[in-house]
This record gives sequence, C-alpha cells and structure tokens, in this order.
Amino acid sequence: VQCGYCTPGMLVAAEGLLLDKSSPSEAEIRHALAGNICRCTGFETIVRAVAAHAAAREAAR
Ligand code: FES
Repeated sequence: VQCGYCTPGMLVAAEGLLLDKSSPSEAEIRHALAGNICRCTGFETIVRAVAAHAAAREAAR
C-alpha cells in the first residue's frame, strides 16, 4: 500500500468474500478484488495479504 486510496474498497471486498467463503482460492480472491483499482502497487501483495488473513482466521477458529 502506498497512498491508501484503494484500501477501503479492498477491505470491504475482501471481507465480503471471506464472509461467503472462509478459504478462498487465489482466483476467487482476484475475482473479488477485481472491481477495485490500485494505481500505486501491483495486486500481488494485496492478494497475498487477503490469503494470509484468510489462513490466519481459519487457524484461529
Ligand atoms: S495504494 Fe494507492 S491506489 Fe492503491
């Protein structure tokens, strides 16, 4: 994250995905985030962050 402009949309989209699916695939994460454009960074770290958060949530259950 650099400017943070996209962060709220990314978080809402990621939370919406994780409410529906607790262990989404990478493709499902990418699909869920597709409506949010980040002009600062690549999407790789964002996708990895959502996957890591999903895994941590699952481990905490
Ligand atoms: S961090 Fe700037 S638009 Fe995503």
